[in-house]
Amino acid sequence: MAGSRSGAGASGGRRTGQPTEVTLFTLLLALLTCCVRCAESSKPNIILVLVDDQDVQLGGMTPMKKTKALIGDTGATFVNAFTVTPLCCPSRSSILTGRYPHNHEVRNNSLSGNCSSTLWQNGPESQAFPLYLSKQKYQTFFAGKYLNQYGKKDAGDVGHVPPGWDQWHALVGNSQYYNYTLSVNGKEEKHSDRYEEDYLTDLILNRSLHFLDDRSPQHPFFIMLSPPAPHSPWTAAPQYQKEFSNVQAPRDGSFDKPGKDKHWLLRQPVNPMPNSSLTFLDNAYRRRWQTLLSVDDMVEMLVKKLDSIQELNNTYIFYTSDNGYHTGQFSLPIDKRQLYEFDIRIPLLVRGPGINPNQKLQAPVLNIDLAPTILDISGVNLSTVNMDGQSFLSQMAPSLRNGTARPFFLVEYTGEGNPTTDPACPKLGPGLSQCFPDCVCEDAYNNTYACVRTLDGKQDLQYCEFADSESFVEMYNLTSDPNQLENIVKKVDPSVLQAMNQRLIKLQSCAGSSCRDVM
Ligand SMILES: *[C@@H]1O[C@H](CO)[C@@H](O)[C@H](O)[C@H]1NC(C)=O
Ligand SMILES: *[C@@H]1O[C@H](CO)[C@@H](O)[C@H](O)[C@H]1NC(C)=O
Ligand SMILES: *[C@@H]1O[C@H](CO)[C@@H](O)[C@H](O)[C@H]1NC(C)=O
Ligand SMILES: *[C@@H]1O[C@H](CO)[C@@H](O)[C@H](O)[C@H]1NC(C)=O
Ligand SMILES: *[C@@H]1O[C@H](CO)[C@@H](O)[C@H](O)[C@H]1NC(C)=O
Ligand SMILES: *[C@@H]1O[C@H](CO)[C@@H](O)[C@H](O)[C@H]1NC(C)=O
Repeated sequence: MAGSRSGAGASGGRRTGQPTEVTLFTLLLALLTCCVRCAESSKPNIILVLVDDQDVQLGGMTPMKKTKALIGDTGATFVNAFTVTPLCCPSRSSILTGRYPHNHEVRNNSLSGNCSSTLWQNGPESQAFPLYLSKQKYQTFFAGKYLNQYGKKDAGDVGHVPPGWDQWHALVGNSQYYNYTLSVNGKEEKHSDRYEEDYLTDLILNRSLHFLDDRSPQHPFFIMLSPPAPHSPWTAAPQYQKEFSNVQAPRDGSFDKPGKDKHWLLRQPVNPMPNSSLTFLDNAYRRRWQTLLSVDDMVEMLVKKLDSIQELNNTYIFYTSDNGYHTGQFSLPIDKRQLYEFDIRIPLLVRGPGINPNQKLQAPVLNIDLAPTILDISGVNLSTVNMDGQSFLSQMAPSLRNGTARPFFLVEYTGEGNPTTDPACPKLGPGLSQCFPDCVCEDAYNNTYACVRTLDGKQDLQYCEFADSESFVEMYNLTSDPNQLENIVKKVDPSVLQAMNQRLIKLQSCAGSSCRDVM
């Protein structure tokens, strides 16, 4: 007010009439500024909960009763959500950039494969979605696992805080529940193994609640929580370590089936699996569920907090995972990294303004769509961002946006191997990795593939080409064969194979809009 009075006074001596004009103008200006501010603070808040290795296909969401009630039943459940690459670091890089791996160039979980490398930091990470949110005046908060090599010496140490984050509490390295190091806004913070002080899932929740208390109500917020669960070493909170004692991994359609018509890696496992593998994978399955109970508590606490600060009805909450997981399918004991449904399908639940409750949505959505959707909500003009994915706001809130679903998409993966033979499995030779339990390998350099999927309500087809010495091809009709038991490549009309191959070629070199317009 002081400003407006002196402004009016300064020109007041010259003519009558003018002071009023100036006062009016200043008043208008003040009103306008206020409106902009009001609009800013009423912009929706956004929360992204990203869990590590949670499947949706094999019952991974079963222990998440509160999450399903508080997000899914209150909003939308996407029943056809996929990762474009079933491995932590490449998938997380896709989530952050909205790009397929061939465009962010993070190939695997190693520094040499660009996981949190300097090239990634100087390139794709500097164009990831948090920076845009920050420019939209969002207050941004991150806590939990980021990228597998984050915080390591050769990856810029804990001092590297990616651009766009106001508050940063990131785990150094891969998922752990205790005895870990964090980068807290660029400073090292070591933790031991006292449940009340260090259990990582609880700690990141607590820090997000403090952030909510300390935030400025003038601006919207974005929170990303990335708990270690249900990744190994599957350390549940003490109160949950006896849960699910009678649960075993589901014996579903592809459980312990031979991978006889499949690529080389799938022809290796002993079939049927030895009892020791069964014991191992049942134990893993049970412990994965136990760790998820703390994530379920996290979601409940977050929702309660938002309600108590009266932000719940103005907040979008996304719940998803970086990739799926398998336990015994095609006689592979435990892991991800395969092109099959159990590894590429992910949970995706969203609640928020404009999303009607209890929706089960069929449109295929991808992890590269999260960034454009979040930016769409925040008011960014998507034609100004360099992303391969597309906003799915129109799918879940048609009253807010128009839009159509894509009919085709790509899943691409670069296999990991070890240059030397695993000493625990001397018979196997080099080029393999993840060879446990019982020396069954879950990955290899030649487990490198690209798949195109047609999923449009009429057809559900998957076509995959391997970059191995056999140029192996797999094709599945998921409508008639949802368990992917029969590779139909030798039965299918060659013209169908050719059309799929052409789409695959286009998708493998697509960028931006050309990734969305493949016919
Ligand atoms: C790592 O990313 C950079 C660009 O950010 C790219 O030039 C390089 O080829 C990538 N490395 C690998 C192994 O893909
Ligand atoms: C944490 O580290 C301490 C000291 O090395 C060790 O005794 C303890 O077993 C570790 N706890 C966990 C859960 O790994
Ligand atoms: C989180 O906060 C709760 C409630 O204040 C407390 O009981 C718990 O010990 C905290 N856990 C961690 C790991 O900070
Ligand atoms: C494996 O377990 C089954 C059922 O528990 C049992 O019948 C069978 O004898 C076991 N096989 C071996 C080799 O231990
Ligand atoms: C949220 O609820 C409050 C009070 O119940 C109401 O005034 C406000 O308009 C609601 N906001 C939205 C975005 O629905
Ligand atoms: C990761 O990718 C890089 C670049 O292609 C490769 O040199 C390295 O061997 C890969 N790491 C593993 C474990 O396969």
